[in-house]
Amino acid sequence: MATGWKKTGWRAFPRVQMPEYGCGETLEKVERKLASYPPLVFAGEVRTLKSRLADVANGESFLLQGGDCAESFGEFNANTLRDTYRVLLQMAIVLTHGAKRPVVKVGRVAGQFAKPRSSPTETNGQVDLPSYRGDIINDIAFTATAREPNPKRMLQAYTQSAASLNLLRAFSTGGFADIHRVHSWNLGFAQGSGATDRYRRIADRISDSLDFMTAAGVGPDNSHVLKTVEFYTSHEALLLEYEEALCRIDSTTGLPVAGSGHLIWIGDRTRNPDGAHVEFCRGVQNPIGLKCGPSIETDSLIRLADTLNPENEPGRLTLIARFGAGAVGDHLPRLVRRIQSEGRNVVWSCDPMHGNTIKASNGYKTRPFESVLREVREFFAIHQSEGSYPGGVHFEMTGKDVTECTGGMKAVDEMDLSSRYHTVCDPRLNASQALELAFLVAEELDVRQGAALKAG
Ligand code: PEP
Ligand code: CO
Repeated sequence: MATGWKKTGWRAFPRVQMPEYGCGETLEKVERKLASYPPLVFAGEVRTLKSRLADVANGESFLLQGGDCAESFGEFNANTLRDTYRVLLQMAIVLTHGAKRPVVKVGRVAGQFAKPRSSPTETNGQVDLPSYRGDIINDIAFTATAREPNPKRMLQAYTQSAASLNLLRAFSTGGFADIHRVHSWNLGFAQGSGATDRYRRIADRISDSLDFMTAAGVGPDNSHVLKTVEFYTSHEALLLEYEEALCRIDSTTGLPVAGSGHLIWIGDRTRNPDGAHVEFCRGVQNPIGLKCGPSIETDSLIRLADTLNPENEPGRLTLIARFGAGAVGDHLPRLVRRIQSEGRNVVWSCDPMHGNTIKASNGYKTRPFESVLREVREFFAIHQSEGSYPGGVHFEMTGKDVTECTGGMKAVDEMDLSSRYHTVCDPRLNASQALELAFLVAEELDVRQGAALKAG
């Protein structure tokens, strides 16, 4: 057990970005209820994910993490989940094919409900109200009652997460993710987007290889690995009352585990080494993500690595770089060099979303697809020159045909944003933009591998 840690210990540390609940009695009731419920994930799965991420840290696999900025109670249905899952599978196929290595698949799903905000209040005309902080905390409607934090919402978030996980597990092992169905994951509305045609060509080649394997005696009836995928969940561990209530002791190791999701991450606004969020996360066994934005100091990163991963265990810590296009070169090299010179085992992942949010001329919050691509390219180029391994990517995306980020092959322009802008928080890549991005990442990985082969 981490020294001096207990699951309630974070309460004595400075807390930021968390609600002040009005009614302590209701809060305690909810906490007790959640503490009596089953965990959403099991310790064995959490340990397996950590060992998969250790393979990423060692340069043998690649991490694909993606999903909504914020899940919502209103948008919860099987089709939305299925479409996001399907695009993630497509992206994983493109990456596995291009990078010739396994892809660890992690959704921002089944728990991604609490949001840090840059401002505590939101103004509309003459009215000032508390900001929306995600459906687990308050309601997005712009009224004073809706914006009051309500602890009972945690119970609904738990139920929605359980139902989502149930469906995702069924997709992963019940036939939907069988590689023989590689053609069926293409989405109708994304047809003709260039990326979809490229995907179809890869799917054709995979089908040919599968036909050969079946003829040689390895087929769906005797090979489990062709029929199922491993799929993991993740979310930002922001609402610590919820995290604490779902924390459990792993009966195999006797160590605490966050039962709310497989991987949990610490956001860019809550990574104070002396704060409540770091205190909670240091004590659970799960793989931990840490968002690294432009304000992170190199010494602070090392302190965080000491606190969060004192044993320097590969797979425990994933550093998620989110600097913004044009700024990666100002920050990533200093962090990579220090991590390397100290011999720290980490996964380096690239979040090209959160440093690239702008306001369009018509007021919509958006992200230009060119900036997203540019940040990914900069991330790869820097790892190439520093001799470190670009281990993964982290996207906000959906399987739906939304118009939230501008650009892409089926170009969305600023005037299109209003037509299908559905996100409750940040703008997400739509299905064809997400697939296009997967091709870019696959090319970067392929080029890198070519260079490594030449050097070797
Ligand atoms: C997020 O991932 O949705 C998020 C808020 O990120 P960051 O903490 O990097 O701003
Ligand atoms: Co976001």
